[in-house]
Amino acid sequence: MNILILGSGGREHAFTLKIKESPLCNKLFVAPGNAGISEIAICVDLSVIDFESIKSFVINENIQMVVVGPEDPLVNGIYDFFKNDDLLKDIAVIGPSKEAAQLEGSKDFAKIFLEENHIPTARYKSFNASTLNHGYAFLESLSPPYVLKADGLAAGKGVVILDNLNEAKAELKRMLADQKFGKASEKVVIEEFLSGIEMSCFVLTDGKNYKILPFAKDYKRIGEGDTGLNTGGMGAISPVAFVDEKMYNKIEERIVKPTILGLQRRQMTYIGFVFIGLINVNGEPYVIEYNVRMGDPETEVVLPRLNSDLVNIFNKMTEGKLNEINLEINPDTAATVILVSGGYPEDYQKGYEINGLNEKFNSLVFHSGTKWLNGKAVTNGGRVLAITSLGKTINEATSKSYETIKQINFDKMYFRKDIGKDLENFL
Ligand code: AMP
Ligand code: GLY
Repeated sequence: MNILILGSGGREHAFTLKIKESPLCNKLFVAPGNAGISEIAICVDLSVIDFESIKSFVINENIQMVVVGPEDPLVNGIYDFFKNDDLLKDIAVIGPSKEAAQLEGSKDFAKIFLEENHIPTARYKSFNASTLNHGYAFLESLSPPYVLKADGLAAGKGVVILDNLNEAKAELKRMLADQKFGKASEKVVIEEFLSGIEMSCFVLTDGKNYKILPFAKDYKRIGEGDTGLNTGGMGAISPVAFVDEKMYNKIEERIVKPTILGLQRRQMTYIGFVFIGLINVNGEPYVIEYNVRMGDPETEVVLPRLNSDLVNIFNKMTEGKLNEINLEINPDTAATVILVSGGYPEDYQKGYEINGLNEKFNSLVFHSGTKWLNGKAVTNGGRVLAITSLGKTINEATSKSYETIKQINFDKMYFRKDIGKDLENFL
């Protein structure tokens, strides 16, 4: 079949590589893609939220499956757009319906869903501009740090954590009354702070059946030792050493099963990935957030460990027969280290030539933010490359990635040198 992947990051490069290896895949297109993706698939200059242009392309190229990478098209309703159109309705879309995508598109919706399904999560209340004073009172009832979340999508910047009560109140006012994040902060979720180690759980579902993919840990902070500003992710490791059998069972019974049952109870159509952001609080898992897509950089460590044919899995999901799949997982450890532009996650320059990409590597080199300029691959984003390696241990996997990185450079390149170090202590 002909397949279209939407997106342009390392996650989509990893999807492209995995889908391309399937004998079920004929022509493979990625919109808009990047320099690395263009070497293994056909990149098309389309915006992921321009549904009318996607429609024309899908019809012209006889696409039979669309795999949606990022959240924007999902929250904007790409699934429903296809299913409500006579010309598109038979095309498989891997991603949830618009209603189900609110699990990521609205923090308030997600909290209501978690509570109604009795899934462990931080205690919370939601407020809008007319209930600002109640918001102040709720903050006073909590102990620091204070967690404030803009309800809607805010390009990953909508969560603010503050130690000081007065600062938290001022921030709440900025979000609600001064619309700091525009429409996204018309509502704000305030919740109790949970202390523990975070991990990412990925679930495939057809809305009825589910399969749990390998767990991963994402390194969100820019600085070593988890310091400094939050980023889109500076590295990832899979599996996660502290998800032992006991923890796995707790997550499956208390979180994954009730999530899938909750989707059914609300009759929400969901053929796609559920990304459950978890935190381990003294051995008990709590949900921090839902995303309705794969994570980036987690995809770059999860998919390289999946030996099964992903297109076959997607086909079974579309038929509502995910139960017929047996996931084959490589037991080795995967580690990815992200190379970023100096200055990221704040201001940074683009357009620097990337050297060394033609070498032979012991790693997979996924492109996150790159493009071609006069025949050369140049930097085109904050996160530039994701270097993934497999090994028998975390140390073996990360060492391979760091060896590969020695061969690659661009102006002002930066990366964390401590990816996976914290997890080695669990072994
Ligand atoms: P989110 O965008 O919901 O993933 O939140 C961004 C980050 O904020 C998470 O990855 C956590 O590190 C942190 N965070 C969110 N909610 C909480 C919470 N209730 N307690 C502690 N940290 C949190
Ligand atoms: N790695 C976190 C995310 O994709 O949102």
